[in-house]
Amino acid sequence: MCGIVGIVGNRPVAPLMVDALKRLEYRGYDSAGVATLDEGVLGRRRAEGKLVNLQSRLDENPLAGTIGIGHTRWATHGVPNETNAHPHFSNDVALVHNGIIENFRELREELIEDGYEFTSQTDTEVVAHLVSRELNSGKSPPEAAFAAIKRLEGAFALAILFKNEDNLIVAARNGPPLAIGHGEGEMYLGSDAIALAPFTNVITYLEDGDWATIHRDDMQIFNENGARVERAKQLSVGSTLMVDKGNHRHFMSKEIFEQPEVIGHTLSHFLDFSEQRVSGLDKAPFDFKELDRINITACGTAYYAGLVSKYWFEKLARLPVDIDVASEFRYREAPMKKDGLSLFITQSGETADTLAGLRYCKQQGQHIGAIVNVKESTIARESDVVFQTLAGPEIGVASTKAFTCQLSTLACLAVGAARQRGTIDATREAQLVRELSEAPRYASQALKLWDEIAVIARDLQNVDHVLYLGRDTNFPLAMEGALKLKEISYIHAEGYAAGELKHGPIALIDETMPVVVIAPYDSIFEKTVSNMQEVAARGGKIILITDQKGANAAGMDDAKVIILPEMPAIITPIIYALPVQMLAYHTAVHMGTDVDQPRNLAKSVTVE
Ligand code: F6R
Repeated sequence: MCGIVGIVGNRPVAPLMVDALKRLEYRGYDSAGVATLDEGVLGRRRAEGKLVNLQSRLDENPLAGTIGIGHTRWATHGVPNETNAHPHFSNDVALVHNGIIENFRELREELIEDGYEFTSQTDTEVVAHLVSRELNSGKSPPEAAFAAIKRLEGAFALAILFKNEDNLIVAARNGPPLAIGHGEGEMYLGSDAIALAPFTNVITYLEDGDWATIHRDDMQIFNENGARVERAKQLSVGSTLMVDKGNHRHFMSKEIFEQPEVIGHTLSHFLDFSEQRVSGLDKAPFDFKELDRINITACGTAYYAGLVSKYWFEKLARLPVDIDVASEFRYREAPMKKDGLSLFITQSGETADTLAGLRYCKQQGQHIGAIVNVKESTIARESDVVFQTLAGPEIGVASTKAFTCQLSTLACLAVGAARQRGTIDATREAQLVRELSEAPRYASQALKLWDEIAVIARDLQNVDHVLYLGRDTNFPLAMEGALKLKEISYIHAEGYAAGELKHGPIALIDETMPVVVIAPYDSIFEKTVSNMQEVAARGGKIILITDQKGANAAGMDDAKVIILPEMPAIITPIIYALPVQMLAYHTAVHMGTDVDQPRNLAKSVTVE
């Protein structure tokens, strides 16, 4: 993870870099730093913690210079403190890095033997020393950078600044994204185009293996063999406005409340309401009719969205789905039939494991489809077809609206697949489209439970563990609910298939254990009632999320019941996600945690 910026400018760059880093804080926020060159001399300011700390450091002790590099960190090697914060220095070199240098141990030993002293515990410092050693051997700065890069194994995006080189930043990419921005007599570098949006919307993306020399008026890009290559300029649509919280206390609550609108927006992108059919699939480079299975890969919340869709694809379209978390899939060497379809679900479009899975599938001759929120992301750019979720920028680290927009998109795809495969007819398709179109209205109704859920959440703030149970599409939702609670309240939680309870987890149940049961009244509701009784008999405290029929049929007098309206089955996972998110949110607020930037996490996971 980590976010990096660089500016070869014609005005003081330190404040500009802090501004750009604010837009990259979603990539990490445990320390930050900037380095500039002022009259040929390298200077830096670094601070542990969030960017405001770096800002105060710079206010107390400003940094002059019209060229500089900056970094916001998510620690991989070395604790998050000022010494481990980037930029790292080695003699005439300052360097920032996003990624992991896998061979850093052997490089470190080699450099120590050569007399280099390490001041940090990071993998990054080896790169600074490597470049410095190459410079000392008489190479020019670009030659030295290239020679050092060739020694690196692993994933990296780098920006390098050199003493006395007032018109040069060297950048390199192998894995994590890097965008070069073109200005008027200024050039910029950033982990994404959004970071550069206040400066320019003309962007060149580096490809894997590329490295570049960036000057005020131009830049040159080279490939891994050192040959000059051309990469196209693109117009970025990234907003120049910093997304703000409006009148919400947190981005997470704002994003929870945006869901009726963004779900509606996303659905209207894939559904033709007047014709009452799924639209846009005819342009895809594959036909669901020709497929005998599909493969879905994703991480975290996006993976749970994929798991929900497995039920939809299999039930509606009779299409088997293989689904994996990307960190397992990428090394599993799954055999794949040529011309199959692999779908990748991702909010950021930059998740390293998901991207690696995508590249594996490409090699296996698969069609690549991405369900992605950030249109200009690497995964979107490397896919054959993009089904964009229209959630808008999601800033809260815990995913909320991106999840329900992923579900909305996947529901449309499953209905479209069913129609192409002839497992549903036009009448059933029209009915499902009508039902899906109701989702924004039900989402608005679910939000009315905000205050009621805040009261229920008070009981959760003092517990150590919470169990979430669900069946069918509510099973992945149970796992998503547990993940949400873990992430932002730091309470240990697990999501289980309700039917699995008696195969182990029931041993955990006692009067201290809250059990959140997600169960709209449906054909298997009674099965879940049995599970609730098993919990109640052992003193477990049930929080039941259901509808009025479910509440009546459950007859759980001691349970806290959150009642949603009755709704069509296809939209229940989308709508039931909202109370689950609200429960986690309110618990975290009661506990006083940092809801939008919970400890140890980052919004975009660009390392393995
Ligand atoms: C949880 C969460 C993460 C992400 C996961 C994948 O709230 O946000 O679990 O879902 O890191 O990220 P993307 O969707 O960007 O690939």
